Amino acid sequence: MAASTVLFTTILLFLALSDSSLQVQSLSFGINYGQIANNLPSPSRVAVLLQSLNVSRIKLYDADPNVLQAFANSKVDFIIGLGNEYLQSMSTDPLKAQSWIQQHVQPHLPQTKITCINVGNEVLGGTNTQLWSYLLPAMQSVYRALVNLGLSKQVAVTTAHSLTILGNSYPPSSGSFRQDLAQYIQPILSFHSQVNSPFLINAYPYFAYKDNPGEVSIEYVLFQPNSGMVDSVTNLHYDNMLDAQIDAVYSAIKAMGHSDIEVRISETGWPSKGDANEAGATPENAGIYNGNLMRKIEEKKGTPAKPQVPIDIYVFALFNEDLKPGPASERNYGLYYPNGTQVYDIGSQGYLPQLTFSADSNINVISIFNFLSLLIVYILLCVY
Ligand SMILES: *[C@@H]1O[C@H](CO)[C@@H](O)[C@H](O)[C@H]1NC(C)=O
Ligand SMILES: *[C@@H]1O[C@H](CO)[C@@H](O)[C@H](O)[C@H]1NC(C)=O
Repeated sequence: MAASTVLFTTILLFLALSDSSLQVQSLSFGINYGQIANNLPSPSRVAVLLQSLNVSRIKLYDADPNVLQAFANSKVDFIIGLGNEYLQSMSTDPLKAQSWIQQHVQPHLPQTKITCINVGNEVLGGTNTQLWSYLLPAMQSVYRALVNLGLSKQVAVTTAHSLTILGNSYPPSSGSFRQDLAQYIQPILSFHSQVNSPFLINAYPYFAYKDNPGEVSIEYVLFQPNSGMVDSVTNLHYDNMLDAQIDAVYSAIKAMGHSDIEVRISETGWPSKGDANEAGATPENAGIYNGNLMRKIEEKKGTPAKPQVPIDIYVFALFNEDLKPGPASERNYGLYYPNGTQVYDIGSQGYLPQLTFSADSNINVISIFNFLSLLIVYILLCVY
């Protein structure tokens, strides 16, 4: 009797402890956790950071086992990435997809909530045109493998596009895909519709501003008060560019015969620093963009064309990534420096706490609890 009581007490203590220490109040915003850097904190420290931020959803560009492990038993929901380098082999060999899932996904289920696999990033419209035709077959291989493994109900399959796949985006109701991509996008839309997975788009009003700072109103791209524009076809009023971009994507999808596919923003953000020719890349603008974006997410507002559908958004990005190639802006999208200091203030409501990476002290708290529970067990043993 004593032994089972003891065991039971210990288990109860453990459960109580792990439950309270891993509680995440979910704000419905997601974040991109990119790791093209040589100075980032360890995933277990990042887990503490993200829990203090109340981030409920994370998008990775790979399936880093250390990250997935660090979030075991948390309530955080993961989109993991299957890189473009896998597309060719997976498109021709479904067994490769199956073994990838067995190796990178299955070991983490169900402790870590992996709910989506993003197959390829910004493939269509990208410079490697060979990949265009591998994309859908690779997505299908991954989907079939999930079906075979009994995981297709819990893990969705999709791919993230850049906005360059649009041929026309103005006015939003006239949005359409590029002609040269239509033959690839049409069957991908059928796939989404069949397997009920979302259409992901990386949308950066910043690019539009940077390319044309004289013409594009900074207030319009930063969600600040401005007169906006009216879509002459629908009469809908737009007071920010992100909404207009999202509705343009919905229109493009509808023009291909689908009104049954959800659009999600897999990346959006604003750089805090850029090269001399990158207009608008300042900490002030980045703070305004991301602060207003988070307020918008919190209000759960949809777009003018879909007011009932709150936009599902993953902010880009968690950290500045020092090894990213390209212009300076590419290395300066982070909300945080690698040392946990905020890059900029994000508004009076303090959405981003200052972080001192107390992962180790957290672990100490847990060991003290474990020690106490062992002590209680010991006392109980003595009593009985
Ligand atoms: C996280 O959620 C808790 C409880 O709802 C709240 O008190 C706290 O301010 C939130 N933190 C952030 C950074 O939003
Ligand atoms: C963190 O890094 C940034 C950028 O290098 C630096 O400006 C800041 O002072 C650092 N913060 C701390 C607490 O070391």
